[in-house]
Amino acid sequence: MKIISNFIGTEFIQQILKENADLMYDNIWRSNLGWQEEIVSPSGVVLIRSLAPSHIDLLTEAMRRHGLIQADQKIELDAQAYVWHRLSYIPWHSDKDSDDEVRFAATLYLNSEWNEDWGGLFLYKKDGGIRAEAPAHDKLVFNDQNFPHATTILSVDAPYRHSVQLFWKVKS
Ligand SMILES: [Fe+2]
Repeated sequence: MKIISNFIGTEFIQQILKENADLMYDNIWRSNLGWQEEIVSPSGVVLIRSLAPSHIDLLTEAMRRHGLIQADQKIELDAQAYVWHRLSYIPWHSDKDSDDEVRFAATLYLNSEWNEDWGGLFLYKKDGGIRAEAPAHDKLVFNDQNFPHATTILSVDAPYRHSVQLFWKVKS
């Protein structure tokens, strides 16, 4: 697991948050109701929208700065803004897929403040134990070894939890 603080900077994050607010009534949102059944379960709603190419470029630059991708590597990055509502969560699963030797996932946390009692903790299993990472402004969690993982349910008094989900493939 790679945990990076100050991943991309407040300006980028404020822009994504502003767009999330401005676009809330636009016809651009998908939801977790389309996820496979094992991970939708009885979760509350998660809204999802794709980020623009200019944002993908900024995210790619930040990934290079922090050494998540090497200078000579080309990647195909897919980035989405997620808006998590009360009672939303993801049960235990692995992202492992048939093409998984080339597919990676990371989560960037956007909320300027997060109370750990609101839930939304990232859990993963390592060395026989369960470990947790709490959301924090501009923190990136990169599950580089594909540990089984989950997120804990948002409390009913939690504000929307904003994150950016990154999936990428290294092109050979
Ligand atoms: Fe996952």
